[in-house]
Amino acid sequence: MTNKRLLLLAVFCFILPRLATAQNHDVETYRDQYRPQIHFSPAAHWINDPNGMVYFNHTYHLFFQYYPDATVWGPMHWGHATSTDLVHWKELPIALYPDSLGYIFSGSAVVDSNNTSGLGKKGKIPLVAIFTHHNPNGEKAGTNNYQNQSLAYSLDNGITWTKYAGNPVLNNPGIKDFRDPKVMWYARQKKWIMTLATKDRITFYSSPNLKKWKKESEFGATIGAHGGVWECPDLFPLKLNGKTHWVLIVNINPGGPNGGSATQYFTGDFNGSKFTPRDTKTRWLDYGPDEYAGITWGNTGSRKIFLGWMSNWEYANQVPTEKWRNAMTIPRELSLKAVNNEVLLASAPAKELNALTAKTLVLKPTVKAGQDILANLNKQYKQYRFDAKLRNKPGFRIKLSNDEGETMVIGYDNKTGNYYIDRSASGKTDFNPNFAKTAYAPRLAFPKTSDIHLIIDASSIEFFADGGLTTMTAVCFPHKPYTHLYIEILKVSDIVQPSVSGLVSIHGNK
Ligand code: FRU
Repeated sequence: MTNKRLLLLAVFCFILPRLATAQNHDVETYRDQYRPQIHFSPAAHWINDPNGMVYFNHTYHLFFQYYPDATVWGPMHWGHATSTDLVHWKELPIALYPDSLGYIFSGSAVVDSNNTSGLGKKGKIPLVAIFTHHNPNGEKAGTNNYQNQSLAYSLDNGITWTKYAGNPVLNNPGIKDFRDPKVMWYARQKKWIMTLATKDRITFYSSPNLKKWKKESEFGATIGAHGGVWECPDLFPLKLNGKTHWVLIVNINPGGPNGGSATQYFTGDFNGSKFTPRDTKTRWLDYGPDEYAGITWGNTGSRKIFLGWMSNWEYANQVPTEKWRNAMTIPRELSLKAVNNEVLLASAPAKELNALTAKTLVLKPTVKAGQDILANLNKQYKQYRFDAKLRNKPGFRIKLSNDEGETMVIGYDNKTGNYYIDRSASGKTDFNPNFAKTAYAPRLAFPKTSDIHLIIDASSIEFFADGGLTTMTAVCFPHKPYTHLYIEILKVSDIVQPSVSGLVSIHGNK
């Protein structure tokens, strides 16, 4: 072939498709029914877990499990998006493609500032991704070692990646579910710690250079929820009243509190080798049906920002979207709270989200029972948030509804002490028999005045109560947007400072 022809071939096969993906952020792409307006969703095709979340050079990187050829799960790639404000995302070309070692399953990315890996060149700090290679042939052949941990590195701010020639760097010892490495720098002992999901427990490994790994310890075979396989863990320190505690996040599928997949967590201590929980209670970071595989960004200093996949493996492949399937939650800031001598994890919408509040539309209505408090909200804001403070621990019921009479109900039953989300009449629900079930969550704290927050997008609601100690995420597929919000049961005197705020679409239009 002549050089000219080769060049043309390269343009058609590699360059044009990449440009097409990189440039597809036009408003039209993001206008289809159910398209999230304040959440990250892929321009097209399938996504699941967030991966490789790392903050580097003023940019938040979000990689994700991605199948670019269909809207159902398939051979996994790492898709890529970046943001400088955690709210507006730019989708970039695919970062990692499957290769002879297998599909690219979940994992993390670190900034190797000291070039411990030696992968940095000419003084450039390498970003190193540590991920699971899942070999489908090994799986088909019935072997038990088809998931292994590998590396890739980038010297251009995460845009292009080179797989490490010595992959895999951590070989499977014969455990079928051996995946989703989350790596952090343990400064006190100057070593990397890998937190790995190994079937029904977590195994910790350490390394001086990301290439050679040594097993340190195991955790959890007899602690926590075990209704399914442990996946996508995370380990990080957080301070409470000046004292450092360690948080271990463990996603599990199935076996969540409302069926299917969910995120549990433990608080305790980590000494560079072993995690010791404070107690053995099972706790959930999000009790709703639709937050999964959630983990935190690395390299964000003392802030811990969490993001989950907004779906559930029970029906993720069936939800009624067309061009794309599944989105991420809003970013959430995690903190610790002491409640009755327990150390609990709380979630709050990241403050960056405030940038989307259309300030002129913030209302402070005098709420009457049965009143539609969205009546005055400019109808062009189909996505909005509702915030209120509640006195006297009242039971309440908030109903979102649309002009078709479809409803999404969020409430608190003060007799049972449970919050709930009832989406049985929320719109399209029949694509899976488990979808319409009401989800319940316990109330964990009873302050005199409590707070609730609801964030409503085209096909999701996120609910935070009592300082984020109880959090619930649920997707929904109404035929028309929920443009009414009724406070149905509540003594008017018990609600303080209610407000509803229109949120501006992240896709550049209202
Ligand atoms: C969790 C998970 C991970 C795995 C990935 C595959 O949702 O099953 O354990 O790495 O998805 O896409």
